[in-house]
Amino acid sequence: MYNINDDIDYIIIDQNEIDKIVTRIAADIDRDYPDPEKKLLLLCILKGSVVFMGDLMKKIRRPVEVDFMRISSYHSGTTSSGTVNILLDLARKDISSLDIVVIEDIIDSGNTMTYLMKYLHLKGARSVRVASLLDKPSRRQVQFEADYVGRVIDDLFVVGYGLDYDEKYRALPYVGVLKPSVYTKQ
Ligand code: IMP
Ligand code: MG
Repeated sequence: MYNINDDIDYIIIDQNEIDKIVTRIAADIDRDYPDPEKKLLLLCILKGSVVFMGDLMKKIRRPVEVDFMRISSYHSGTTSSGTVNILLDLARKDISSLDIVVIEDIIDSGNTMTYLMKYLHLKGARSVRVASLLDKPSRRQVQFEADYVGRVIDDLFVVGYGLDYDEKYRALPYVGVLKPSVYTKQ
C-alpha cells in the first residue's frame, strides 16, 4: 500500500516539538490579549495553515473568533513572483472592532504577509499581528517580521502539518523534507 511517509527524506520538526511550539504561541497570545471583552480574531490563511490553526485555537484560553482567507502568492519554481491575489476574502465588512492575529504556515519571500498586513490595515482592523509556524528569513525579498514564530528554518522546501508540495503531504503530522526522487518523478 502507498504510504506518503515513505516520500519523506527526513523530519525537521516532529510531533512533540510541534506540540511545544503550539503551546508556547497559544500562551503568548493569551498573555498579549488579556482583555476578554476585546474581540480577537484568529485569521487562518488557507490552505497551509489549517492544521496549525486547528491545534492552536484549542490551546488558547481567552475567547476568540475564527475566520479564513485564501491568498495565492504564486511561486514559479522556488522563487516568489511577488504577485499576490485574494482568492477568498473575509466575509465581514466592518473589522474596526477586531484585533487580528493572522495564522500563517510559513514566511518565505515575505510578499504574502506584507500584502495582507496592508490590506487588513486599510480595511480598518484595530490591530494586526502575525503568528507563523515556520520562518525562512534567508529567503526574504521584502523586509517582514512575524510577531510569533514557531521555528526559524534554513532555505529548505518543507512539507507536512498543512504544508504541501503539489497539494500533497498536508496531512502528515510532522514537518519534513521530501526525498529528491519525489521532485524528479513524472
Ligand atoms: P511568501 O509570500 O513568499 O512569503 O510565501 C509564503 C507561502 O509560500 C506560504 O504560505 C506557503 O504557501 C508557500 N511556501 C513557502 N515555502 C514553502 C515550503 O517550504 N513548503 C511549502 N510551502 C511553502
Ligand atoms: Mg502553499
